[in-house]
Amino acid sequence: MAAPLPPPRVVCLGNVVADHVFRVMDIPQPPAKIAARSYVLNAGGMAANEVISVTRLGGRAHFWGRVGDDLKAPLLAAALEADGVKTAGLKRVGGGRSPVSAVLVDRHGERTITGFRGADLGIDPGWLPLETLVGAGALCCDPRWPEGVAAAAAEARRLGIPVVLDGEKSETRLLVDLVPRVDHAIFSVTGLQNFAPGCAPEEGLRRALASGPVKLAAVTRVEKGTLWLAPSMAAPQEIPAFPVEATNTTGAGDVFHGSCALAMAERMPIEAALRFASAAGALRARDGTTPYRAMVEAMLAGK
Ligand SMILES: Nc1ncnc2c1ncn2[C@@H]1O[C@H](COP(=O)(O)OP(=O)(O)OP(=O)(O)O)[C@@H](O)[C@H]1O
Ligand SMILES: [Mg+2]
Repeated sequence: MAAPLPPPRVVCLGNVVADHVFRVMDIPQPPAKIAARSYVLNAGGMAANEVISVTRLGGRAHFWGRVGDDLKAPLLAAALEADGVKTAGLKRVGGGRSPVSAVLVDRHGERTITGFRGADLGIDPGWLPLETLVGAGALCCDPRWPEGVAAAAAEARRLGIPVVLDGEKSETRLLVDLVPRVDHAIFSVTGLQNFAPGCAPEEGLRRALASGPVKLAAVTRVEKGTLWLAPSMAAPQEIPAFPVEATNTTGAGDVFHGSCALAMAERMPIEAALRFASAAGALRARDGTTPYRAMVEAMLAGK
């Protein structure tokens, strides 16, 4: 009997951020000095959340991106590795500074975030291990390192590997450049507005499909579910969100994208992949943590 195939491999390219999360009673007006009730350092950032969702849902997960030459770098690598993510493609850039954010969460769960996007991380994608894309099941990219996305997406397209873009809030010119390079452009509400300013969602999705050989354009709309359009469809269709009691919707979109890329690597049809991703996103919004496979399967089965 043939040995079972290993799970598909998904490469996630983009940001990893040292999220310093402080829980406080209230967020006061300045000047203020307040004690935190708890503190934790998490690996956040779009591609980092995406890659962790891939591994928790059963895929082989590889992270490609940049960190600085600072105290945060080994902590970020260790956080990804603790979840089984392969980090050979995480470059520690000499003289660079890693992205960080301070997240204050009050007793009602409301957040105040200050983010620093990092500095001197270099934009040249020449070091990316593109040769290791051979045999990958999917590539998932956030838009924070556009030069990296362009290089990896071109190689993935040459190899016939599906590329999912997290069309998050970005400059219009960046999204307009990146969308035609990918197969599946999945926007947040703000990201779609940035891509097609002033357009209704349906028109924005049509523009994305018209911009290149894009096979799917979609917009996630928090608890209102996901609107999606493929070239063969006359009008967008809706994948309803799974109803949950949300405690923290941060990162639900990232989990949605990582799960969707894994589902595509598993060759699920588009509609099934979007349902799978919606279940994973809903669980993240409900629990504030990235779900495991059995939890997603249970939600899909209505349990
Ligand atoms: N409150 C919720 N209830 C049910 N499903 C949710 C909820 N929030 C998110 N989801 C699911 O996750 C998907 C992605 O969430 P959302 O639209 O908030 O992404 P986003 O705006 O990119 O957020 P972020 O970037 O903060 O992760 C939604 O389309 C939905 O399927
Ligand atoms: Mg998002």
